[in-house]
Amino acid sequence: MRRLSRFVVLLFGLNLAAATQAPCIELNDGNKMPIVALGTGRGTASENAPLNEVRQAVYWAIEAGYRHIDTAAIYFDETEVGQGIKDAIDNNLVTREQLFVTTKLWSDKHRQQQVVPALKDSLQKLGLDYVDLYLIHFPVAVKEDFSFDDVDYLETWRGMEEARALGLTRSIGVSNFNASQVDRIITNSRVWPAVNQVEVNPTLTQEALVTHCQELGVAVMAFSPFGFVVSRKRPDAPPPRADDPVLVQMANKYRKSVGQIVLRYLIDRGLIPIPKSVNKKRLAENIDLFDFSLTKEEIQLINRFNKNKRVIDFDEWKDYPYFPYGEY
Ligand SMILES: NC(=O)c1ccc[n+]([C@@H]2O[C@H](COP(=O)([O-])OP(=O)(O)OC[C@H]3O[C@@H](n4cnc5c(N)ncnc54)[C@H](OP(=O)(O)O)[C@@H]3O)[C@@H](O)[C@H]2O)c1
Ligand SMILES: *[C@@H]1O[C@H](CO)[C@@H](O)[C@H](O)[C@H]1NC(C)=O
Repeated sequence: MRRLSRFVVLLFGLNLAAATQAPCIELNDGNKMPIVALGTGRGTASENAPLNEVRQAVYWAIEAGYRHIDTAAIYFDETEVGQGIKDAIDNNLVTREQLFVTTKLWSDKHRQQQVVPALKDSLQKLGLDYVDLYLIHFPVAVKEDFSFDDVDYLETWRGMEEARALGLTRSIGVSNFNASQVDRIITNSRVWPAVNQVEVNPTLTQEALVTHCQELGVAVMAFSPFGFVVSRKRPDAPPPRADDPVLVQMANKYRKSVGQIVLRYLIDRGLIPIPKSVNKKRLAENIDLFDFSLTKEEIQLINRFNKNKRVIDFDEWKDYPYFPYGEY
């Protein structure tokens, strides 16, 4: 009996060790956010993950220790994300309060009076009564057919403030905003954005924008964190790839994978990476980041891969007013 209970304790201990939890940072509104988020956007992955994989991936992620899930209305997977969360809560892996859920307002709902209904629609799909973070997905407004719609994102921000005041979201923020757009919101609003979610990875290091936001106390979430290090099946994909000697040497030094080196590089810059995976092993790997850190020199070495080259360029919208990406 004693041996059995010791065995049980050992198993329990091992189980705890297997699940890694990311620490939290405090946002500028006082809310706490875990610094690794699961990505659930499927369109940008090398292979578009079928919808039924999302529910399973969310469940496995929570099991592996993720407490932050990133989705968006335009991913059309909020229902599956919500099912994965419900499965995890029903199986007593977590409570709702222990989770941090982020979703985003799509560009065809930028008029002030559209924001609260759009969030309510997302909440219904997610099966939640609040999200932790609601983001304006992109500063440009479009009609349903993706043609330009002349709505200033400052008007959209008024709707975001309303959604927050109603308790439908705890924090509000933006995504794909450039430095002057972040400044313009701050100068003209009572509630500041808590977050700006932008693409950051070894070939799009975004040093100026990241520093600017961080100095203002706006946390920066890094999407497409692996950049072109993972295969994007694109002929124009710049180096480095997963076999790059600089990255492989760091991986060997820390006994980590190249993917983990790239994620840790972002964390060591104070960013919140959003790795997407539907693979159980890679999901666990992508949050197992808290028993090592890179040196300043190693961070600089990775910064040198910068090419100002985007995985996601929203090129079709480049001539619309409020388009955020200037020279690159
Ligand atoms: N705000 C925005 O405008 C915006 C835009 C794009 C993305 N996002 C968010 O950011 C998330 C991540 O971006 P992303 O999906 O473009 O790219 P990503 O996370 O950089 O890369 C995902 C790809 O890498 C593979 N992968 C995952 N972990 C790996 C590892 N450890 N080693 C090797 N390969 C690995 C995945 O395949 P497997 O699934 O097979 O592992 C998938 O093909 C999205 O899901 C979304 O939530 C936001
Ligand atoms: C930021 O976006 C505005 C549009 O709102 C654009 O005019 C400006 O050139 C952009 N700035 C940079 C640095 O890209």
